[in-house]
Amino acid sequence: MGKYKIAWLPGDGIGVDVLEAARIVLDKLQLDATYLHGDIGWEFWRNEGDALPPRTIDLLTNVDAALFGAVTSKPAKAAAAELAPKLQNNGCTYRSPIVRMRQLFDLYVCLRPCKAYPGNGLNFKENIDLVVFRENTEDLYAGVEFSPVPKELSETLARLAKPFAPFSRLAPDEFGISCKINTRAGSQRIARAAFEFARKNHRKKVTIVHKANVVRATDGLFLEEAKAVAREFPDIAVDDANIDAMAMWLLKNPFNYDVLVAPNLYGDIISDLCAQMVGGLGFGCSGNLGSQLAVFEPSHGSAPKYAGQHKVNPIATILAVKMMLDWLGESAQAVTLEGAVAEVIREGSVRTYDMGGSHTTLDLAQAIAAKL
Ligand SMILES: NC(=O)c1ccc[n+]([C@@H]2O[C@H](COP(=O)([O-])OP(=O)(O)OC[C@H]3O[C@@H](n4cnc5c(N)ncnc54)[C@H](O)[C@@H]3O)[C@@H](O)[C@H]2O)c1
Repeated sequence: MGKYKIAWLPGDGIGVDVLEAARIVLDKLQLDATYLHGDIGWEFWRNEGDALPPRTIDLLTNVDAALFGAVTSKPAKAAAAELAPKLQNNGCTYRSPIVRMRQLFDLYVCLRPCKAYPGNGLNFKENIDLVVFRENTEDLYAGVEFSPVPKELSETLARLAKPFAPFSRLAPDEFGISCKINTRAGSQRIARAAFEFARKNHRKKVTIVHKANVVRATDGLFLEEAKAVAREFPDIAVDDANIDAMAMWLLKNPFNYDVLVAPNLYGDIISDLCAQMVGGLGFGCSGNLGSQLAVFEPSHGSAPKYAGQHKVNPIATILAVKMMLDWLGESAQAVTLEGAVAEVIREGSVRTYDMGGSHTTLDLAQAIAAKL
């Protein structure tokens, strides 16, 4: 066994291609690690009725970190239709395995750095350097959802909430309810993570992203708690913005922003926007961090149309490896790896299709490995 045990979770589609690329750079770095394969994704949903089988959960309880590619996810009905015949109608309900991993292991921080590497022709503007802190376990992703809506729930809501009156007249299968649940403790800890990061990394400002003017019970609470945490960090400037305005301001004046902190759904949306400003999904990396475990991944999905073609950009995943090295305390290797990525981008001679080239996923990984 190496010094570190890393769960290796390729998943579906291009998740497999990009993890193959990640291994090229890790092997070149000679990280003292043992990589332990974990089953996750669509195949396990179809054949076992569980996209995150118990053996993978066991594996994750026993590793220092995990590297995850991507999985294919589908809405509940479409997922149920693809179950193996022996599993049809046996009560299996599809839930995204990455969302389950985040909740099971309390990976409450989703950290998404978005940096414009010099010379990347896909940069929206040069010098963009944003960091998104997305709350990762609560909000609309809590998994408390009803469709059809049980009668008791409908009756209770009609009794407790006047605005529910028009909905209470609907038949149970004519509407759905997804609960947005945000706790004080959950809002405080993601805000604290953002401010601590800002202080440690000499960042100047944290912007709290919300929609508290309309979604008062939950976003109001998030804003209140994040502002209370901000008072513990007088050395870091703080401001806040509604999610809709934030999307507009980020495009208009990206240099007015630094660290952003948001509830789960807004954080998800805003981090794709930020990734697009620094080259697109091929450059967006992500760390799901808890107090015991961390799972690193590219922000993109399984892009089924490119599966197995070794066509997509591995840089997002290689930057996720860089984040993993930081988490493991291998900061020197993290700096070296980021330098190699930056150099290959600046030179521009090895580029995948999204960067306007025709090199393969593995060509790009090998070019980065050659700089190490
Ligand atoms: N964390 C995850 O595993 C995750 C995240 C998002 C989506 N998904 C799932 O992935 C599947 C496909 O979803 P989608 O098509 O909306 O999103 P996607 O991120 O898989 O792909 C969207 C498009 O972005 C481009 N793209 C993505 N990654 C790229 C890369 N590395 N290099 C170059 N181009 C890249 C491709 O054009 C691709 O068709 C769905 O089943 C979805 O549920 C999974």
